[in-house]
Amino acid sequence: MSASHPEPFEVVARPSASLRGHARVPGDKSISHRALLFGLLAVGETCVTGLLEGEDVLRTADAVRALGGIAERLGDGEWRVRGVGVGGLQEPTGVLDFGNAGTGSRLTMGVVASHPIRATFDGDASLRKRPMRRIVDPLLEMGAVVESEQDGGRLPLTIRGPREAVPIVYETPVASAQIKSAVLLAGLNAPGKTTVIEKEASRDHTEHLLRHFGAEVVVEPHGEHGRRITLTGQPELVARDIVVPSDPSSAAFPLVAALIVPGSEIVLEGVMTNPLRTGLFTTLREMGADIEELNRREEGGETIADLRVRAGALKGVDVPAERAPSMIDEYPVLAVAAAFASGETRMRGLHELRVKESDRLQAVADGLAAAGVDVRIEGDDLIVTGGAGEVRGGGVAVTHLDHRIAMSFLVLGLAAREGMRVDDGAMIATSFPAFVPLMRDLGGEISEAAA
Ligand code: S3P
Repeated sequence: MSASHPEPFEVVARPSASLRGHARVPGDKSISHRALLFGLLAVGETCVTGLLEGEDVLRTADAVRALGGIAERLGDGEWRVRGVGVGGLQEPTGVLDFGNAGTGSRLTMGVVASHPIRATFDGDASLRKRPMRRIVDPLLEMGAVVESEQDGGRLPLTIRGPREAVPIVYETPVASAQIKSAVLLAGLNAPGKTTVIEKEASRDHTEHLLRHFGAEVVVEPHGEHGRRITLTGQPELVARDIVVPSDPSSAAFPLVAALIVPGSEIVLEGVMTNPLRTGLFTTLREMGADIEELNRREEGGETIADLRVRAGALKGVDVPAERAPSMIDEYPVLAVAAAFASGETRMRGLHELRVKESDRLQAVADGLAAAGVDVRIEGDDLIVTGGAGEVRGGGVAVTHLDHRIAMSFLVLGLAAREGMRVDDGAMIATSFPAFVPLMRDLGGEISEAAA
């Protein structure tokens, strides 16, 4: 059994001169996991370019192999996946260990749940704390059997799929692309139509890829902000090539760094601008950020653009709860931007942050307090009163095995008077292995702390 994670090491960010230059952040994590899983479920060979080679995605590649597919690295971000087709999964011989990866584990549970095989899922100490009932509940309705010591609520757990899965209509209890995707992926091997209803639209990469691989998917509006997605089961998915665009959730870190380090100007190349992922850009622009989209174009079915970012004064704003699904992973670094703004930023409706790689609401509040920032939590809201360009810094942010907490506080340290330390930089490799060298190339002073 797992629950292990790499050796921790401290990282320090020091006040830096203006950031300059061009950079390309790695491939989108959400699309990378899905690219491998769709490759597994298709007949034929799927070539992927721009795959994120972070720890999380490499675990999904291991799972693809354990379930009978071939996932081969050909070169930098270039992968070839040979699939087994919907219905053709092989029963894995060992435990599927997803490390820190919520998305990889939950989506693969959906894939497995409608196949007549048995598979055990596990992960590190962070993943073992995260709620799994939200995934397990609809999969039980589809006919899967779940065995676990904690009634399916936490990892490790074992899923046994039925001989024939039952297509369902499922309304997600929270706006979550992971729940939606797990049900749709399970629906691929169920006869008839599987429908997911969400009150707030969440990222739609699964829907895009289902169509790209030849499945029939109908998406209709539902209420003011929601969607109703219906998939016709048991299609023959045909292998198709996938180009993975740069991850806006990773771009968020150098982007906010360039906004808060005085005099900075950088260009981030080829960043995905799917509107269900860009709530952070909308919010930062409301705060007065200078973010220009150059060269808008299409790549692999997604819109992308080069983002030119210039430092400047920011002002506090009120961020509505409905925006959360389109920027759910970006609140930690938005809170850092808010710490440098003038006035109060209120980020509303952040209950889902409590169940990410860490309790991010608490981890962000604690880290900001350690940096001398005026911060408080009221119910599900995070309220930061900014220092109008002045933040003391100098503390240690505790990362709780959370890559985004680590990167957010290193960004803070580049512009804070006394810099900032994070207790553990090891988890950055889950989503952005080249974060430190990329930031250094732009002029950011980040390094491993001397022992
Ligand atoms: C993801 C969905 C989001 C997000 C995660 C990736 C995905 O999680 O936080 O990093 O790829 O589907 P939820 O679905 O739990 O909101």
